[in-house]
Amino acid sequence: MNVLDRLDTTLRVVGGARLEGSVEVQGAKNAALPIMAAALLARGKVTLHRVPRITDVSVMWSLLEALGARLSLQDRNTITIDAANVNKARAPYTLVRKLAASFDLCGPLLGRFGRAEVPLPGGCVLGTRATDLHEAAFRALDAEVSVAHGYLIANARGGRLRGGEIEFRMPSVGATKNAMLAAVTADGDTIIHNAAMEPEVVDLANFLVAMGAKIEGQGGDTLRVTGVAELRGVEYEIIPDRIATGTLLIAGAITRGDVTVKKTRPDDVLALQLALGECGVKVTTGDDWVRVQADTVKGGTDVVTAPHPGFATDLQPQLLSFLCTAPGVSVVEESIFNARFSYVNELVRMGADVRVAMDNNTALVKGVAQLSGAPVEAPDIRAGAALVLAGLGASGETEIIGLEYIDRGYERLEETLSSLGAQVQRASGIVPFSEPTGTFETSVYPSV
Ligand code: EPZ
Repeated sequence: MNVLDRLDTTLRVVGGARLEGSVEVQGAKNAALPIMAAALLARGKVTLHRVPRITDVSVMWSLLEALGARLSLQDRNTITIDAANVNKARAPYTLVRKLAASFDLCGPLLGRFGRAEVPLPGGCVLGTRATDLHEAAFRALDAEVSVAHGYLIANARGGRLRGGEIEFRMPSVGATKNAMLAAVTADGDTIIHNAAMEPEVVDLANFLVAMGAKIEGQGGDTLRVTGVAELRGVEYEIIPDRIATGTLLIAGAITRGDVTVKKTRPDDVLALQLALGECGVKVTTGDDWVRVQADTVKGGTDVVTAPHPGFATDLQPQLLSFLCTAPGVSVVEESIFNARFSYVNELVRMGADVRVAMDNNTALVKGVAQLSGAPVEAPDIRAGAALVLAGLGASGETEIIGLEYIDRGYERLEETLSSLGAQVQRASGIVPFSEPTGTFETSVYPSV
């Protein structure tokens, strides 16, 4: 079946409604993807709960099938992965080019087969997606690494990786994941210095430990891994998506509403809570919920994106949309990616007053009384969500082209927002996925 017949690429938002109510948040995209890749290391079947129903997951699903794994859908958000018959160490370019996170396959393939051939993630709208830290980590584990014809080729000298010492010049999320994924079945001990501390990295570590891996220090900047011979199949639940949580909280803030996000982890969005609080938004929390009441927004704030627990780069566009409507001047600095302000031009078309400095890393935002709805185009997942939020806070109608980007990271975002009182719908109202039929269709989506 040609899924394009069912895939609409525009979202229509009519602004003006105050969002009110509570919603449960999806499972974390950026935990589900590496954990699915890690299932390649399991000797038995893996069952994953709270897997978000998004296009990026369907791409990783297709990649694992292409390598020989068998996957099935137990219910809307539960999948099983049986990697027993995986017999390939080379990932296909046609799928990898669609998903930078496909690079997470390097570590498991190298750990399982002593060899990995994975296409380089290449660039994306956020800027360069370098892989030098991944390569250095594999070399520290006694692999020969080369790049040929757009592929990273890694071979464990002597057929099995050996434990080693890895020192990252910056706490790369991807490189920390790949280093862990390679080290857990290496021969000997590995220390990873300046490791990323993102909750999704911790969730991957906890999943590997549940499979029988020996990892200590997760959540801190130094990880110690003791290699084991093999890992077993397990049943595991993915953590809540902190970026989807933050996106929904900001939807409440930009509409001056009262929104509670449930089944989440408040500490994972602490930096956002502080930023919204500085703007006068009332933020309250419980064990597994966060509430924003935004009828008293009094000003803007300044944020610099940073590795966790700093302000998440994946919430930078969404917060900037909100700051466009907050009185006064705000400064937003992007320190993780070198081209993450391309969406600002679309906000300016909606009447926002934002200027990006020549270094392309700093945006100066002056709040305006009201954004105005306009046709806009989403350049990536989080900028797409930011444009939806801008549309919610604007007067009139906003049509967002590039819905396929939003579907890559958010499970039916329009339904979640509509349940809070938003007027949001797909152009023709048809969702891209069929009901559980035992498999995800591989969707056609934009290259990253
Ligand atoms: C992960 O990307 C996330 N993706 C991104 O979320 C997130 O923005 C990013 O971490 C930062 O938090 C997934 O988890 C699937 P990095 P990743 O390795 O692993 C440079 C979203 O919307 N770098 O920390 O690629 C790199 O060029 C996505 O969900 C090197 O220089 O992040 C970039 O500028 C967008 N050399 C910066 O580090 C390397 O070897 C961040 O990269 C690796 C990275």
